[in-house]
Amino acid sequence: MRIHILTLFPDMFRGPFDLSIVKRAVDDGLADIRIHDIRRFTHDRHRTVDDYQFGGEPGMALKPEPIFEGVESILSDLTQLEMAHTRVVLTSPQGKLLNQAVAQELAGQLDLILICGHYAGVDERVREGLVTDEISIGDYVLTGGELAAMVITDAVVRLLPGAVGSQDSVRSDSITSGLLQHPIYTRPARFREWSVPETLLSGNHQEIRRWRRERSLERTLKLRPDLLAAADLTGEDILYLEKLGYRRKEPPAA
Ligand code: ADE
Repeated sequence: MRIHILTLFPDMFRGPFDLSIVKRAVDDGLADIRIHDIRRFTHDRHRTVDDYQFGGEPGMALKPEPIFEGVESILSDLTQLEMAHTRVVLTSPQGKLLNQAVAQELAGQLDLILICGHYAGVDERVREGLVTDEISIGDYVLTGGELAAMVITDAVVRLLPGAVGSQDSVRSDSITSGLLQHPIYTRPARFREWSVPETLLSGNHQEIRRWRRERSLERTLKLRPDLLAAADLTGEDILYLEKLGYRRKEPPAA
């Protein structure tokens, strides 16, 4: 998968993508991350990327021309088939919230173009004429879209087959399964006054599976009960949750 990032601050991406799973995925050829400096697509002496807003609002807006030229130059290298599997994403606090389902959908594309917004915002014609998705990483305002582009890239790259050592660990991690993750332990079996739960040391895999499922259910009920409505629950899960006081909402009577 290719991920193109259009930014005013290419240097910000040096550290995060040069380490860990993202770097390995790039080295292994699973992801090809290309950072494009928006200023490269300007043609005036001052390499102007922003301007005053019409209507007299305070704050500068990103001009449309360099962003259009940047995205179009990336698209011009794609085949029609690649183009059909390409998303052009604007990072912005107004977008739909990033979650695991959104990351999964993006990970299924061939090319992902991330436009990092800045200043007071981008000229609306970028939304009208270029963008297929607008994504926010949370209900707060960052100084720019670069950190959001890093978060999106990280969440997407780790989903590419082969990026994380075992796909089992991707499937069972928090949220992917619809539930929060169960507690995990490593050696030593006893650390200060805390011991690893007996079941995990028992070697009984069926019991261990059940212990993990129950802890996931408990944790989700306690910390993120909103996830339970959409989680993939078995009858046994529901009985266990009901023992803990969970009541499923019945659909309204017709
Ligand atoms: N740019 C500024 N704030 C943002 C946010 N919360 N998500 C994505 N992009 C942003």
